Amino acid sequence: MYVYADNAASTRLSDSAAEVMEKCFFEIYGNPSGIHRSGRKAKSMLERARAEIARTIKAEPEGIYFTSGGTESDNWAVRIAESVGMKTGKKHIISTRIEHNAVRKPLENLKEKGFHITFIRPMANGIINPSDFEKAVRPDTVFASVMYANNVVGTIQPIREIGRICRKNGIIFHTDAVQAIGHIPVDVKADYIDLLSASAHKFHGPKGTGFLYCGRPEIMEPFILGGGQERSMRSGTENVPGICGMSEALAESAENMAEESAYVKKLRKIIENTVYKIKGASINGSLKSRLPGNLNVSFADVSGQSLLKMLDAEGICVSAASACSAGSSEPNFVLESMGIPAEEAKNSIRITLSVYNTEDEARYIGAKLKESVEKLQKLKREF
Ligand SMILES: Cc1ncc(COP(=O)(O)O)c(C=O)c1O
Repeated sequence: MYVYADNAASTRLSDSAAEVMEKCFFEIYGNPSGIHRSGRKAKSMLERARAEIARTIKAEPEGIYFTSGGTESDNWAVRIAESVGMKTGKKHIISTRIEHNAVRKPLENLKEKGFHITFIRPMANGIINPSDFEKAVRPDTVFASVMYANNVVGTIQPIREIGRICRKNGIIFHTDAVQAIGHIPVDVKADYIDLLSASAHKFHGPKGTGFLYCGRPEIMEPFILGGGQERSMRSGTENVPGICGMSEALAESAENMAEESAYVKKLRKIIENTVYKIKGASINGSLKSRLPGNLNVSFADVSGQSLLKMLDAEGICVSAASACSAGSSEPNFVLESMGIPAEEAKNSIRITLSVYNTEDEARYIGAKLKESVEKLQKLKREF
């Protein structure tokens, strides 16, 4: 049996997204900057996609800027922070210890430019406490970046409360919503979000496409210079097939969200119920405020890497640390920031499910997980 259960790393393209993309590749392939009919058609598809994406996050279409994915959107948001910080002289930034490297690394780089960054630790359940956030606010805080949902443990952060604190204190608020968009409802206005990053391949859209939302045009800063596309903010011929595929996938996810998330949670519960029967198993991160398809588990005396390989041999794809860290096997900084010792953090795997998984697959994962963990624990006892 082949079972793909690494959907936080990337997802299968939806059939309807593939159909729209095929149309773009073979029928509407004109450059959207062209003034002939093919260009005009491409441009109108692009603008339709922008409006559709804006609608799903309750934004205005003018606030959507297309990018190459989550990493670019996050880097761009930090560039905006840098620019506003330089102009105003306010150089304090608040972020968290559970951010993806696409936020963390550009923020670290700002230190060389005189910025001071406070990285807040999550609580043991993987959630940022809004009162810890509020305590970190200083008169010179210019920007804050707190992810909507974590990629390792799936915990959903109290974004609305944090957004409210930012708005009250005049802080630009960015959220990396790469793991949230298409999976849980996001409303940029109600959540006081100024900047938001998203990536299509996390919600059954294509890889290499994403967007940055900006609700405050006065802070926008060009990111890529050239031909002046995206209102001169992000030059380069637009990836029309990718953008249209992304919009189609997002519209589909938004329409079926309640139903799909209940289904995916049911699959997770099937595996969770087996995990409770395995000796030395502990689930990492809050089970209450969590993405429906995420299960992150540590097993005593079992290396995550060995378990991953054993499951792979049974046809099951999961991940050990965050797969987004390019195959890295370094101890997971997210788990460690939650107070989990480095050794235990290495003993964890992440199973992430999607609507394309079946109940039979979930039962198969549960059974193979139990079998493999017990085998590895026995080996450890014997040697
Ligand atoms: C939370 C988070 N942010 C950013 C990214 C980077 O997105 P992309 O792969 O589209 O560059 C990822 C990817 O895994 C992610 O999980």
